[in-house]
Amino acid sequence: MSRNKKYQTNQRGKGTTLAGQADRHVLYEKAVQCVEAEIDMVDETFQSIRGRTARILREDFCGTANTSCEWVQRRDNNQAYAVDLDKKVLRWGEKHNISKLNDDAAGRIHLLNDDVLTVDIPPVDIVLAMNFSYQIFRRWKKSPNMMTSLTFGTSLDTIL
Ligand SMILES: C[S@@+](CC[C@H](N)C(=O)[O-])C[C@H]1O[C@@H](n2cnc3c(N)ncnc32)[C@H](O)[C@@H]1O
Repeated sequence: MSRNKKYQTNQRGKGTTLAGQADRHVLYEKAVQCVEAEIDMVDETFQSIRGRTARILREDFCGTANTSCEWVQRRDNNQAYAVDLDKKVLRWGEKHNISKLNDDAAGRIHLLNDDVLTVDIPPVDIVLAMNFSYQIFRRWKKSPNMMTSLTFGTSLDTIL
């Protein structure tokens, strides 16, 4: 069967097959993430390097902002800046993840539909990019924007 034909057949099954009914963001989070373990690691690493507790996290390529949700739930004064280019995935995260937080925790997540290369964020303790890599930016070293964005978004104490 040609690839095109296969695609059309799959599209017809959409909504009726188990795969067609699945929500890809749910599957992604279950297959790829374990935000509790990720944030344990981030917290412990920051504490061991800086000798203090981190408070403000910038989550680049945040997708559904699942990691930021875990961060703001850890401590009442934790804040997260969650950045992603894709409006749809951010909306999904608002509906399925952020909406499950209490109002106080939800208010400590700043969701930004923006490019990590150019976004303007105040200094943070940690810049996190889970399951995605800055290496995709082939002209990373030549990109003054990336350096500028990270420089403005960091302080001398920030860990990337
Ligand atoms: C693999 S997914 C998210 C991974 C998620 N951080 C995790 O922990 O599993 C990568 C995300 O990066 C976003 N993305 C790609 N390039 C970007 C850019 N330049 N600025 C902001 N977001 C970007 C995509 O929209 C996508 O939602």
